[in-house]
Amino acid sequence: MCGIIGYTGDAEATPILIAGLRALEYRGYDSAGIALAGGGRLRAIKSVGRIDALAEKAAGADAAGTCGIGHTRWATHGCPTEDNCHPHLSYGGRFAVVHNGIIENCDALRKLCESAGVTPRGDTDSELIAHLLELEYDGDPVAALRRVAARLRGSYALGVLCADFPREIYAAKMRSPLIIGLGDGAACLSSDGGAMPECVNRLAVLADGQEARLTPGGAEVYERGRPVAGEFVRCQSSRVAAGLSGYPHYMLKEMCEQPEAIARTVADECKSSRPALPRAGVTLIGCGSSYHAALACAPLVERVTGCRAEVRLASEYICSERVREHGRHCVLLSQSGETADTIAAAEEAERRGCRTLAIVNVHASTLTRVCDSFLCTRAGPEISVATTKGFTTQVGALARLAADSDPAFARELKSLPFAAEEALAAAEKTAEYAGRFARAKCAFFVGRKTDYGAALEGALKLKEITYVPALGIAAGELKHGSISLIEKGTPVVMICTDPALEDKAVLSAASVRSRGAFVLAVTTCARVAEACDGAVMLPRVHPLLSAAVSVIPLQRLAYETALLLGRDIDKPRNLAKSVTVE
Ligand code: G6P
Repeated sequence: MCGIIGYTGDAEATPILIAGLRALEYRGYDSAGIALAGGGRLRAIKSVGRIDALAEKAAGADAAGTCGIGHTRWATHGCPTEDNCHPHLSYGGRFAVVHNGIIENCDALRKLCESAGVTPRGDTDSELIAHLLELEYDGDPVAALRRVAARLRGSYALGVLCADFPREIYAAKMRSPLIIGLGDGAACLSSDGGAMPECVNRLAVLADGQEARLTPGGAEVYERGRPVAGEFVRCQSSRVAAGLSGYPHYMLKEMCEQPEAIARTVADECKSSRPALPRAGVTLIGCGSSYHAALACAPLVERVTGCRAEVRLASEYICSERVREHGRHCVLLSQSGETADTIAAAEEAERRGCRTLAIVNVHASTLTRVCDSFLCTRAGPEISVATTKGFTTQVGALARLAADSDPAFARELKSLPFAAEEALAAAEKTAEYAGRFARAKCAFFVGRKTDYGAALEGALKLKEITYVPALGIAAGELKHGSISLIEKGTPVVMICTDPALEDKAVLSAASVRSRGAFVLAVTTCARVAEACDGAVMLPRVHPLLSAAVSVIPLQRLAYETALLLGRDIDKPRNLAKSVTVE
């Protein structure tokens, strides 16, 4: 969502902070800023818009200094203006604060500031933290941070500078990730391990309720005011700015990485450490694309467990009636492992007596710590806000679990990466149809069973990166209302990868074509292709695995349409890669 970076060491901080913010930009990109310590005062440089605008501003400003913090924002409280942009300086200029998360009691804290004679400049909850620090300060910034943190309700990852200690950074966290990185003569802070500066060779994840003091010589971690040993592990530089490798967009690069990412995910390497799917009721939970992957995989899970698999949106699960769920197993899917709704759902599942298994792409993410066990997809870093390989590797991970108890299915699974490769080649044909989707008032994606999950994901991809309205519909539901929207030329994508559902798909195609729709088949079945106006032919895979293949042309269709419309494909408006607030 938002991104935090901090550096203290011997080098100039600004270029390191800007590079860190570039690596974090995919998490939020409506405004950005840095603050630097030195000369007895703190300086903040902020800019609305992208990191390039900030870099330009910093180049023309006094941006010298070897200790600083930075932030890239995705607005929650208040519009993206410079006043609302982080870092926030306290009223007296002694503290600078960057914050990820949401402070739930901000109204009470605002009143507290106002009653102390401090009028906040902007509308954010984060700015209040800077003022409270200055109000609480008695010469010890860590103690002030601890006292302020104790007043905050909600979630926070904080990076703080204090003008009196110009070589130090302070940190605190609750329910929002924050990582400390150490290098030779440098200490760093980031909300995302992948954005750590290259000098970092050891990492420690700060725990909820801890504070830290970072100096060029290292980091001290505190718990309830007492020093504790930080658990640092050696690492190689994991800077995600691996670059575009010649691709015009990360989305295209990541789409093309799918066969390899699926192959890594389904590879049978660590069988002993992975949990089995129980022969008990399973609830699959996620948000956005992860929810669609859950829907697409429910039939697979049912086949393995022999029990009904329930699929729930994380945000709905947490507010549903608390009925007895003892003995159920919850599988929580999340590419980032940081989605607030999904984390809250895992906690709620635990309260309801369920066992919890996380399927994440980020090993050191919050969800892996909240759940009883976890399994990692091997997609590698995903930068494009619209997920592609995140989705297909989630299908791969669930399929791998299923294959453990079904040797025939395991053999089928081995062919999945090759099928994804073929689908990638076939997907290029979608460029021919992109114009129809770019002009559409509304586009439809329809399918049944596994193809229904893919249909929802296809519609979401189109909405996310083209802003063209799109509906994902269970094919059988079309006739119950939505068909009224079909008019001459309305584009409909008919997904059918299961020969057993071929007849039904042919009927659905006929029913919308007779009302003027242009129907594009994404299918393994020749008869379905013949019944439509255009077709992308898919390689055959086991129908329960097909979402990892059928979604690839849908991703490409959205990509080609966005290209035609000139959209900002990797950073679509209003979106954030991981939504760390409920
Ligand atoms: C955000 C992203 C979506 C993503 C969803 C869930 O809304 O924009 O692309 O599917 O979060 O993310 P997760 O990391 O939990 O899979």
